[in-house]
Amino acid sequence: MADKEMESKEEVPIAIELAKKQREISVASFFEKNRHLLGFDNPRKALLTSIKEAVDNSLDACEEAGTLPEINVEVIEMTENKFRVIVEDNGPGIVKKQIPNIFAKLLYGSKFFKLSQSRGQQGIGISASVLYAQLTTGKPARIISRIGKNYPAHYYELRINTQQNKPEIVKEEEVEWNKEHGTRVELDLEGSYQKGDQSIDQYLKQTAIVNPHVTIIYTNPKAEQIIFPKASEEMPKKPVEIKPHPYGVEIGVLLSMLKLTEARTLQSFLMNEFSRVGSGTAKQICENAAILPNTKPNDVSREMAEKLIEGIKKTKIIAPSVDCISPIGQELLEKGLKKEINAEFYCATTRPCAVYRGNPFVVEAGIAYGGQQNAEESVKVLRYANRVPLLYQQGACAIARSVLNTAWRNYGLSQSKGALPIGPATIVISINSVWVPFTSESKEAIAHYPEMIKEIKLALQECGRKLASYIGKKRRINFESKKRDYIQLFIPHVGEALKELLKLNDNDEKKVEESLAEILEKSRGKLEQVEAENLEYDEEFAKIGKDYGEEEEDGENERGEGNEENPE
Ligand SMILES: Nc1ncnc2c1ncn2[C@@H]1O[C@H](COP(=O)(O)OP(=O)(O)OP(=O)(O)O)[C@@H](O)[C@H]1O
Ligand SMILES: [Mg+2]
Repeated sequence: MADKEMESKEEVPIAIELAKKQREISVASFFEKNRHLLGFDNPRKALLTSIKEAVDNSLDACEEAGTLPEINVEVIEMTENKFRVIVEDNGPGIVKKQIPNIFAKLLYGSKFFKLSQSRGQQGIGISASVLYAQLTTGKPARIISRIGKNYPAHYYELRINTQQNKPEIVKEEEVEWNKEHGTRVELDLEGSYQKGDQSIDQYLKQTAIVNPHVTIIYTNPKAEQIIFPKASEEMPKKPVEIKPHPYGVEIGVLLSMLKLTEARTLQSFLMNEFSRVGSGTAKQICENAAILPNTKPNDVSREMAEKLIEGIKKTKIIAPSVDCISPIGQELLEKGLKKEINAEFYCATTRPCAVYRGNPFVVEAGIAYGGQQNAEESVKVLRYANRVPLLYQQGACAIARSVLNTAWRNYGLSQSKGALPIGPATIVISINSVWVPFTSESKEAIAHYPEMIKEIKLALQECGRKLASYIGKKRRINFESKKRDYIQLFIPHVGEALKELLKLNDNDEKKVEESLAEILEKSRGKLEQVEAENLEYDEEFAKIGKDYGEEEEDGENERGEGNEENPE
């Protein structure tokens, strides 16, 4: 015993040694090591991601300010694998004080706590691009922003202090700028430029298609300028900020809401803090939870909160208002498909608003079938989330999973178990929500929430039924047309036989043939034209982002299955 005591006094326990290694880790240091989580895992994707983050921000900012967006995107090849990216908008600009934090502090933004649809949500996008640029070239980000013609334009050179996740101002000055308001971001970074389905060209084109109010002037590294002019003067409906819907709210969230609320009773808490809860519904929830409506929110214990959640589940509450969401819309989705794909049949559908974890969302889907599309390959899937095209991680996305799990044979496409259907078709799915559940910070794939999968499948089935009815009709018409051809083939023979039998002259024979053809037409009716004429299709436009040029053979699987895992 005495020996042991001596031993422990002399020897320092290992935990004390180990304790010296414990350190807090800043979010910036974390993402410096894990930049793949932010979409910067290979040079090609990194170049796209940095542009995407800046363009998505510009579009959000312009729309919030009610300005028709005019975005200038320039990508300059500096050396073989170094690029300069410039994105300039005509948005509201950023107040001077906030410029350093917005661009050089991770997890700083205006959209994280707001419940209305926007492209950005996490407060990490543009500072992640700045971090990646700094990591791969060591150069600071260069920003110009101006908030109005009576205000100066501010120029900043910024770096991120990764240990502290804080901005470091390298240079700051007022400059002359020819824009009255807007923001310009300039980054030097390592990248690789290629055309194809996952290219910047494709991302900008698909963005332009579903955002017809946007003008994008794009100069690619080959110094080719592509202009996507706006096709509409009308801004999309501005999404209204809402409160969470009670369905799906989690206990942890409910408890902190109960703590923070200024409401004095549980009934008024439910009415004030949630959308779609009036006094009747609030009372009903309390009754279903067996809690008195005049209970003080602060007195609600964890057990009572659990009962409250059960009460919410048992109460019929109207679906959330769709005002907080700005879907692409059936018409525009179909028009977009027509611009891109020369098919023979198009359809689209918008589902009613649904809820996952208290967050409202709307799913839309569309199909373009036939025409010039390859009938031997699996269908092509186009994905959008809050009007942003998703070009990577298709395999991990709930959208692709839902396409796989839909029984396409019922709708006229062939399909092996667990695979994408085969046929000349393009399927487009768009998810719109106040909070899109992405699988990672890089915002590339949708997480597998059962409520969302259900809605996607319902949207696909709605389109599938329309497709099946078209394919069925087309089959019937083809069959009828073959039958007619067959009859028509025999008319001259019948004419000739009658001529011989009845000793007719050539003229009579002709008359007989004409009458037979007339009878055929009358008895079988007119052949219906089912194939749609596509006046929207623009071959040159459709080529953008598809013309793979000399870089074509990098082994990419253009159907987007697992291709993103291709390192470069
Ligand atoms: N071009 C811009 N014009 C005006 N404000 C901007 C611009 N770019 C960014 N901001 C502001 O800076 C904030 C941070 O941008 P950042 O991209 O880091 O995050 P986010 O867009 O909120 O979310 P996400 O990480 O999903 O992109 C935005 O929320 C927005 O308020
Ligand atoms: Mg953003």
